[in-house]
Amino acid sequence: MRITTTILETREQIREWKKAGCTIGLVPTMGFLHEGHGSLIERCRRENDRVVVSVFVNPTQFGPNEDLEDYPRDFAHDTALCESLGADLIFHPEPEEMYHDACAYVNIHTLSENLCGKTRPVHFQGVCTVVSKLFHIVEPDTAYFGQKDAQQLAIIKKMVADLNFDIRIVGCPIVREKDGLAKSSRNTYLNKEERKAALCLYRAIQQGQKVIAKGCSSDMVVQQMEKIICEELLARIDYISVTDAITLQPVEQVERDVLVAMAVYIGKTRLIDNFSYEVM
Ligand code: PAJ
Repeated sequence: MRITTTILETREQIREWKKAGCTIGLVPTMGFLHEGHGSLIERCRRENDRVVVSVFVNPTQFGPNEDLEDYPRDFAHDTALCESLGADLIFHPEPEEMYHDACAYVNIHTLSENLCGKTRPVHFQGVCTVVSKLFHIVEPDTAYFGQKDAQQLAIIKKMVADLNFDIRIVGCPIVREKDGLAKSSRNTYLNKEERKAALCLYRAIQQGQKVIAKGCSSDMVVQQMEKIICEELLARIDYISVTDAITLQPVEQVERDVLVAMAVYIGKTRLIDNFSYEVM
């Protein structure tokens, strides 16, 4: 497995592989890899001749008061995991290599303004910008994203369609801990008590899945989920929302496929989780 830090050497390697007729899959990450990332890499390995994983804590997707400095990093562990899963290349640039004096950004309206966009106004611009750059650098046939970040996945799909990237986007299911907590690099911020409290997200998801039905009101689903979160003293709701699965606009009634998404603070840590509901 190769590790590159510059755009130039990455491009040279990609060009060589393309010349040899290889298909290329990309898994963009911010590192501190866990089984959630691992599931994307495994799927990418199964479906492509060459597997590229990017490990880059992207500064432009963090707001001024967010956790850029504290974001967990462990490149030795990331390298070992990628190697064990059969990745061919890790692209691991410094922020200077990716941005230096850049002033062009990729922005996507509407989809990025609700849900997480309300409390994280610059976040999706940063995500779209870095993912576009990675797409131009690696030129993958297919790129893999987790449904854990459902709004991100919907936004990337829309960006790829609107800006005519010739790249297939694959969404992969949420990987959870044994007790149901969605795996996340940010789970390391939780102390023992908070870790236990964080299970309320999964309990709320399960309750939402239990009560949701074709034709029911979104308010009813949200209230049932809120009730569970409110029983947990360490939890504070940022949002719980029922939206159209593709446009991410709020819906009043469950009449088509929806995304039920939420963000909840456990102490100072903001966690997200979601489920999709398909109307048969
Ligand atoms: P990061 O949080 O490192 O996540 C990288 C990819 O792993 C994302 O597509 C995310 O949805 C997926 N992922 C994370 N936890 C998961 C889980 N429990 N189950 C399934 N998939 C999971 O998302 C980002 O980085 C960044 O925004 C990025 C796209 C790399 C742009 O900087």
